[in-house]
Amino acid sequence: MSGYQTFAVAGAGDIGRFIIQELLNHVSDGSVETVVALTRTSSGYDELKEQGAVFKTVDYSSHSNLVAALQGIDVVISSLSGPALSVQIPLADAAKEAGVKHFVPCEYGNPSGGKTYGIFGIKNRVRLHLLDIGLPYSQYYTGPWSDWFFNGDHAEFGFDIPNGKTILRGSGNVPISWTARVDVARYIVYVLTHLSPTELKSKPFAIEGERSTINQIIEEYEARSGKKLEITYESTEFLEKQVKEHPDDFENGFIRMLFLEWERGEGTTGTSEDVNKYWPEFNPRKVVDIILSP
Ligand SMILES: NC(=O)c1ccc[n+]([C@@H]2O[C@H](COP(=O)([O-])OP(=O)(O)OC[C@H]3O[C@@H](n4cnc5c(N)ncnc54)[C@H](OP(=O)(O)O)[C@@H]3O)[C@@H](O)[C@H]2O)c1
Repeated sequence: MSGYQTFAVAGAGDIGRFIIQELLNHVSDGSVETVVALTRTSSGYDELKEQGAVFKTVDYSSHSNLVAALQGIDVVISSLSGPALSVQIPLADAAKEAGVKHFVPCEYGNPSGGKTYGIFGIKNRVRLHLLDIGLPYSQYYTGPWSDWFFNGDHAEFGFDIPNGKTILRGSGNVPISWTARVDVARYIVYVLTHLSPTELKSKPFAIEGERSTINQIIEEYEARSGKKLEITYESTEFLEKQVKEHPDDFENGFIRMLFLEWERGEGTTGTSEDVNKYWPEFNPRKVVDIILSP
């Protein structure tokens, strides 16, 4: 057992709200004592507040404000949006001063280790800063979130399943680790409450709901749903050209770059032996089950 029982989650967005919910799920079994959510406004979030989450309004540019908000907290879990990743540096400094014992920086995607470009560069800077200030951390590589990519709300990434369309970027034949957000949250909370501080200290954890290629997912979806997807193709050469010519553009420099990473085999979170290693009973959800669930 880690002994960590008081948690603050910075950002209650796409992934943060799942982590807050999972922490709340463990208050009744005694493994979690306090769940604080840090946001800039704290309005809304009624469902989480009703279950006991304490929302604190913070100003990320005020060190004293952050230190005050983090009093009595064992673990800070950062779930801030991509454009806000640099805010983790003052957040980590405040956590250190407030006596926080462990920090989870924003990862939740492809492994960032050693990469210097785009959001990976910022993620690595944050990790190095945590090492510098001596605040133990753990990172969580999750691969793409299966319930987020395929739910139709992010069609710019290419998967518009509700409308029967998909853009197949690259070969679609390279294995990727897909994980649903509810399982990302379950694994993180399990690890943070069950492993000892030494086991947790300053390393990445690989989470994987299912390892499959985009073509395998499309094939299984079509077979099980009885629906044919209309597929548009973008070659690897096209992706490379677009990323090179428009590195700062969201669709080219970020989305197509992500697909190129997958094509290079960087969409898996770890070796088969490493993924989900610290919770053998994890039992995460499968991609097509999620797509087909109501
Ligand atoms: N694997 C995947 O499929 C996948 C998909 C999407 C994202 N991600 C990763 O997951 C991480 C979290 O992303 P997300 O989509 O969960 O984030 P999000 O929902 O877009 O944002 C999370 C929170 O960040 C806060 N925020 C936004 N701008 C801010 C700013 N300038 N300063 C301070 N706080 C700010 C907001 O909280 P308040 O307004 O309440 O303060 C927001 O609720 C990112 O690192 C991203 O790379 C992974």
